[in-house]
Amino acid sequence: MKFTLRIWRQPDANAPGAIEVFELDDITEDMSFLEMLDVLNERLNGEGVDPVAFDSDCREGICGTCSLMINGQPHGPETTTSCQLHMRSFHDGDSITIEPWRAAAFPILKDLCCDRSAFDRIIESGGFISVNTGSAPEANAAPVDHPDATRAFDFATCIGCGACVAACPNGSASLFVGAKVSQLGLLPQGQPERPTRVVGMVAQADHEGFGSCTNIGECASACPKEIPLDVISLLNKDMRWSITRWGNPIGR
Ligand code: SF4
Ligand code: FES
Repeated sequence: MKFTLRIWRQPDANAPGAIEVFELDDITEDMSFLEMLDVLNERLNGEGVDPVAFDSDCREGICGTCSLMINGQPHGPETTTSCQLHMRSFHDGDSITIEPWRAAAFPILKDLCCDRSAFDRIIESGGFISVNTGSAPEANAAPVDHPDATRAFDFATCIGCGACVAACPNGSASLFVGAKVSQLGLLPQGQPERPTRVVGMVAQADHEGFGSCTNIGECASACPKEIPLDVISLLNKDMRWSITRWGNPIGR
């Protein structure tokens, strides 16, 4: 297959960036999108040209490291991660534009790599949960309603990729924060720190410069793990409950 790649190149965080065009003609339909970029980088290395910087780790759709805006869609045309996208999703001869996530809270570091450590700081702001460690507890010691258990598991599939932020015109992290808050808020183990967790994480998201949610829904459409939009309703409900009942539990 042949492709014309239009790729965002930016030497570092402070330098101006621009689209560069590359032609590739030795791609098979079974290659993943990242393998296709590996082929390009092999060629650039051989030519003594700086290869295209992009993030990846597991390449199995589980770590959330890959983060490419492909033809204007986070992770491209399928409901999956950039690393699990295959070239058979494109047509021979297609022109493909590849850019980094674009959000104020995810500054570009180089080419297609951006700094998503803001997500780590949001997670840290959620704190810990009070559970005894040691041997595995008896399975029925803390009963959980089946619908709550199922939803908690579904929300726990968020891999922190940031596609929701990249898709949102407001650059909001509400889908990510909602998934992380709700996966614990639905379980008995998540109850002791529930008020401080939700208020702390929302305050940190504001501090990092993520925008507000205005119910557009692009985040849920772009999410490779199909986290539903109603985690944002659960987040708002939890926030209201925490403030009403506890005032300002984190004191800031
Ligand atoms: S909610 Fe979805 S799109 Fe957002 S970080 Fe989690 S997995 Fe990625
Ligand atoms: S590289 Fe791990 S999810 Fe894509």
